[in-house]
Amino acid sequence: MELKKVIETRASVRKYTPEPVSLTDIKEMVRLASLAPSVNNYQPWQFIAITNKGLMNRMANAVREKIKSFPENKSKYAANVKKQVEFFATFFEDAPVLVALCMSEYETVLEKGVELTHDEVNQLRNSPDLQSAGACIQNLLLAAVDLGYGACWMSAPMMARKELEALLDITEPLKLVSFVAVGRPAKVVLPRDKKPIDEMFRIIA
Ligand SMILES: Cc1cc2nc3c(=O)[nH]c(=O)nc-3n(C[C@H](O)[C@H](O)[C@H](O)COP(=O)(O)O)c2cc1C
Repeated sequence: MELKKVIETRASVRKYTPEPVSLTDIKEMVRLASLAPSVNNYQPWQFIAITNKGLMNRMANAVREKIKSFPENKSKYAANVKKQVEFFATFFEDAPVLVALCMSEYETVLEKGVELTHDEVNQLRNSPDLQSAGACIQNLLLAAVDLGYGACWMSAPMMARKELEALLDITEPLKLVSFVAVGRPAKVVLPRDKKPIDEMFRIIA
């Protein structure tokens, strides 16, 4: 598909048909994701594709337990908010495949020679490795569309990061960053409304 069309038709898809995603397609999405730019071409990423339903279920339960554990406040939202968030954080268990993106932290050239800690430089540079991960995930989403799938970027499950890292056997120096759920869309999802360009753009000439 033409790139412009892929970008214009992409929309987050959260309901899928049961059709499995072939390993060839999963690997192609990951390959295209990994061509993204990254700070100093560090390519901080590692990918885990999860298709095991038992594991997905255990992961979703870990996320549910985490959400349940948060103390509620006294606002009118308290009654419903957890239920709402639960869906957006756990629907991956019904996806044919869930791709986990892990990353090792980037050690900048600067921190090797100045009296600044890794965290200080990382903050000054605004988390370049996380920014790289974002580019990579966007590539994955677009690759999924190009191959006829629907996908959704998911950071909400990260609330149970420690538990999920244990379930996925992710150990230092790798850290879990985010997820992408992928499958054939159960129904057509139209692109959501986006702001017109004049609301978000200015030029300094
Ligand atoms: C960093 C990031 C994290 C996201 N995390 C979630 C998530 O945990 N669950 C979810 O259902 N959608 C998640 N989304 C998808 C957004 O909700 C979605 O992109 C947004 O509503 C706009 O819709 P669109 O993708 O169809 O344009 C995430 C998107 C981004 C960029």
